[in-house]
Amino acid sequence: MLGRLNHVAIAVKDAVAAARIYKTMGADVSDAVPLPEHGVITVFAVLPNTKIEFIQPLGDNSPIQKFLDKNADGGIHHVCYEVADIIAARDALIKEGARVLGDGNPKIGAHGKPVLFLHPKDFSGALVEIEQE
Ligand code: CO
Repeated sequence: MLGRLNHVAIAVKDAVAAARIYKTMGADVSDAVPLPEHGVITVFAVLPNTKIEFIQPLGDNSPIQKFLDKNADGGIHHVCYEVADIIAARDALIKEGARVLGDGNPKIGAHGKPVLFLHPKDFSGALVEIEQE
């Protein structure tokens, strides 16, 4: 069920500025992409085996604003794992008592694929995103 680590997300005040040092280290860095449905702007640094997703608040009710209020210099916000079948993964997790955030239905994420977020209390304090492969 559990596949590759798709990305590690780092919440920051300025995603383009945050990604610059990764460019210096030779990573391919994407353009900034606004995702109004998720309340963030994303920039990806592509590494050989995974990606780093910089997320910056977008709009007044960004879900990462509170995190940035607490972590003014930015910080690791979530990890994203790939799953072969997001509905099957969700249903298996719910059956085990894990909590799915939001209305429980996948949204389209930064890669145009369905994603869901899972409660940090069920994952050792880490916010987990799952993405359909
Ligand atoms: Co993500």
